Amino acid sequence: MVATEQENITQLFEGIRQDFPLLQQDMRGKPIVFLDSAASSQKPQAVINAIDTYYQESHANVHRGVYELSQKATDAYERGRALVRQFINAPSDEEVIFVRGTTEGINLVASSYCRKFLSEGDEIIISAMEHHSNIVPWQMACEFAGAKLRVIPINDRGELIMEEYEQMLNDRTKMVAVVHVSNSLGTINPVEEIIEKAHQKGIPVLLDGAQAIPHMKVDVQKLDADFYTFSGHKMFGPTGIGILYGKKKWLDAMPPYQGGGEMIETVTFEKTTYGNLPHKFEAGTPDISGAVGLGAAVEYMEKIGHEAITAYEAELLQYATEEMQKVDGVRIIGTAGKKASVLSFLIDGAHPYDVGTILDQLGVAVRTGHHCTQPLMDRFGIPGTIRASLAFYNNKEDIDRLVAGVRRAAKMLLS
Ligand code: ALA
Repeated sequence: MVATEQENITQLFEGIRQDFPLLQQDMRGKPIVFLDSAASSQKPQAVINAIDTYYQESHANVHRGVYELSQKATDAYERGRALVRQFINAPSDEEVIFVRGTTEGINLVASSYCRKFLSEGDEIIISAMEHHSNIVPWQMACEFAGAKLRVIPINDRGELIMEEYEQMLNDRTKMVAVVHVSNSLGTINPVEEIIEKAHQKGIPVLLDGAQAIPHMKVDVQKLDADFYTFSGHKMFGPTGIGILYGKKKWLDAMPPYQGGGEMIETVTFEKTTYGNLPHKFEAGTPDISGAVGLGAAVEYMEKIGHEAITAYEAELLQYATEEMQKVDGVRIIGTAGKKASVLSFLIDGAHPYDVGTILDQLGVAVRTGHHCTQPLMDRFGIPGTIRASLAFYNNKEDIDRLVAGVRRAAKMLLS
């Protein structure tokens, strides 16, 4: 990228922090440096306002009342779905299911798809860098069916070993479930290639998109993903809402995940018939305000633009990596060729929790520990890392404060 282009992008993000009320406050008596967006992002005023207005003006239950207010709530809820559909370029609203978050999206598929399609002796492929939420649901499904979980290994940089993956695919493979961007390493996986290889053998692929969706354009049709799931709260929306995108052919073939109101067509004590997509997978009163807030987050991100977000964050990550490499004793964990927004590291000889505690005292919020990826930490032979995770409301001053804090922690803990 030429220098002027980069300057324009930097300028675009200069005032953006003003949109986020929480980032105006101090932490430990200092202006907050929030570097834990991979755990949960902060919310712009536009999202907070949308939820507030919804409750003040439009709340009632959805898809149930003939009265005007219920219609208004239904329209607000379905508008959220339509905004997400267009955001990820899903072919239809039917394929966009509201769930509680990525974890529920994966559990839905692991439970429902596997009940129908997984039998004894079958195999499911995941990778060595999965979050627990993309391990445990498949383990549970495999245990239930007598199937086997297989794991794509990674190299020391934190990249999937694709040759091993290709060799794992066989007639018994019933699903490939991998993370798009690793929450602990920042690795961007070659998901197009993963999908292509699986599809050559007629195997569906689920992508855990929780850490990709806040940082890059996701086009589910271009990817040709069978399932794509993510959380609202990591993409500047509210907690408690997320999305499972699934191809209609699979969703139609899968049994409902939960039973209750909303997902039925007719109920008698003898037999129930189920409703159409997407409602078949949305039992009970949904998170209506969550859908409204998620829709507002989509609009907010689209106003900024994916290209600008990705370019700005790439520059910031590069700066952070270079500055951190200058600190004596720091070891970066996760050095893949393609990365997004995550800088995991260790100070050799210091425990991550101690470093995190010192950074907290300096007003810098990072996550420390295994980041719900214990098998990945075992692969690297470490108990955990210190993880700084970026969003477009961060800037170089945040990185400078982080790096200064790490220098101070190293001095305190190692001398
Ligand atoms: N999955 C979230 C993280 O990586 C909670 O921090």
